[in-house]
Amino acid sequence: MEAKDERMASVTMELEEDIAEVLLTQEAIAARIAEVGAEISRDYAGKELMLVCILKGANLFLADLCRQITVPLSYDFVAVSSYGADTKSSGVVRILKDLDDSVESKHVLVIEDIVDTGLTLRLSYLLENLRSRRAASVKICTLLDKPSRRRVDVPVDYRGFMVEDQFVVGYGMDYQGRYRNLPFVGLLKPEIYGGG
Ligand code: IMP
Ligand code: MG
Repeated sequence: MEAKDERMASVTMELEEDIAEVLLTQEAIAARIAEVGAEISRDYAGKELMLVCILKGANLFLADLCRQITVPLSYDFVAVSSYGADTKSSGVVRILKDLDDSVESKHVLVIEDIVDTGLTLRLSYLLENLRSRRAASVKICTLLDKPSRRRVDVPVDYRGFMVEDQFVVGYGMDYQGRYRNLPFVGLLKPEIYGGG
């Protein structure tokens, strides 16, 4: 319990109470993002890189990752929705916000918080869409990968961490709109899901 309390030191009491376990500490996330950023910097040297962040969950990952990439880049945002208030994917994907900028001849790296069933990326036709807008290349970078839950094939090119088949919150990821501001990735206490 002592170690757990320490890891949660920067979090408000109110949110802390709902967390059962810390899976990835703030420090572990930062260290891994530095590695992934270095890898991307090597791979995209001399190329025009554009990060396309999928809102809302991936925005904290984008913010930290882009500062670990040392090649020139631009970024833009899309919003797609596959989840309602539940923790299971509905399979219904709406495009809520499109890109502001052209991707033509740019090397696009799609930034995701977590690839779970893969349906968000597949049913939104985001990758096909970016290719049809003549991006020079389209790849995927996700902070978390839950391969055990995959229902459709999604090519993950860069991944921060593999996670088990568990619903996680924090570091941008939510349950019913909450917990995004936790600086770590963790599991909620089972009773939190009780009402929802
Ligand atoms: P997919 O369409 O099933 O691959 O899910 C992709 C999206 O669902 C992610 O970008 C998240 O927004 C959300 N999601 C999937 N698993 C989790 C989770 O464990 N916690 C929070 N959000 C999740
Ligand atoms: Mg998401």
